[in-house]
Amino acid sequence: MAADSGRRIVSGMRPTGALHLGHYHGAIKNWLQLQTEAECFFFVADWHALTTHYEDPAHIGADTRAMVIDWLACGLSPSLSTIFIQSQVPEHAQLHVLLSMITPLSWLERVPTYKDQIQRLHHLDLATYGFLGYPLLQTADIVIYQATHVPVGEDQVAHVELSREVVRRFNHLYGREADLEAKAAEALGRLGRRTARLYEGLRRRYQEHGEEQAWTEIQEILEEQQHLTMLDRERLLANFEGRGRRILVEPEALVTEQSRLPGLDGQKMSKSYGNTIALREHPDSITQKVRTMPTDPARVHRSDPGEPTKCPVYALHRVYSAPSQLAWVEQGCRQAGIGCLECKKPVIEAIIAQLKPIQERIVELEAEPSFVNATLTQGAEQARDIARDTLDEVNEVLGLSHRWP
Ligand code: TRP
Ligand code: SF4
Repeated sequence: MAADSGRRIVSGMRPTGALHLGHYHGAIKNWLQLQTEAECFFFVADWHALTTHYEDPAHIGADTRAMVIDWLACGLSPSLSTIFIQSQVPEHAQLHVLLSMITPLSWLERVPTYKDQIQRLHHLDLATYGFLGYPLLQTADIVIYQATHVPVGEDQVAHVELSREVVRRFNHLYGREADLEAKAAEALGRLGRRTARLYEGLRRRYQEHGEEQAWTEIQEILEEQQHLTMLDRERLLANFEGRGRRILVEPEALVTEQSRLPGLDGQKMSKSYGNTIALREHPDSITQKVRTMPTDPARVHRSDPGEPTKCPVYALHRVYSAPSQLAWVEQGCRQAGIGCLECKKPVIEAIIAQLKPIQERIVELEAEPSFVNATLTQGAEQARDIARDTLDEVNEVLGLSHRWP
């Protein structure tokens, strides 16, 4: 596990098979950074694939495997992150059922992606229960780990927003723990007498005199307690404020800049548009694809000046080229000083060079199925340990723990 900054990151990706450069620049690069800064959970959302493609599930297995291999080849590491497959952590589904009890239908119907997708994917019959509930399944994916932050694209922000609303409703309904005071006192007892006295003093100042300073101080003091569990800290804070307890954590979206790398035709890079460069793309094919990319239509002849901002090749340069090379493109294009093939050459070379080590690792990983399997088994176990704690807590407040004397 990476250095704990108090942030817990959860993100998932549908199993779309081998990744392309759009995935790499839009999500994976960000995940690689996050796994060095915070505790991270990354999973293959295979149940989510079924919410739309339940009619052809045959390729989910192979697509999952290819995607995980590409993740690992890019540098996602089982020693830094918890990497797993959603369906191997059944607690996601259990929490989904429980959250479904308190989620108004209207909240799901008004999620903007709901009507959009039904229209966009009109060739699929999406008048299903699973499809309507899919943002709530996503809520369960996030909340089961008590995630604080969820890196997603712009299109997923509404789903994180739904998660926040569901969490608020849940905490409101069930956060009034009958024995909160007793449990807070127990937790306080474990902190030692000096801290307990400090806590009581500050609590009086806060509750009787409304001193904001006391609230700031107690948060700092509890933050420093190494052995305090997240739950106990929450109980102590709730008791301090004299409010209900937050059982589930409200997650925040970390929006990744939308598609920094457009596809070969300038639209969003996506398999369904046929405009991708796969991470596994052969160098010859990369060369071929970039050489045949459309450019600024104004440049019919080599002598016609062009405008880089109207050219998808320039968008690639912005990701792959240093400032001096960008300046070379801008000037060369606007003054017709360079030809388009000449302009494309350094991009082709940069992409091939970037993908070379990744492709080598893909070959290694393909030859090492036991490593991939072990990663996923271990990932699911680690994930389940955390997920079960949340579920226990949820079951408890819902009267489902069924522990009788
Ligand atoms: N719904 C996301 C997508 O289609 C994938 C996803 C599922 C996800 N569960 C998640 C993303 C939880 C972030 C957190 O891209
Ligand atoms: Fe595009 Fe480069 Fe040609 Fe300009 S010179 S149109 S940026 S490929």
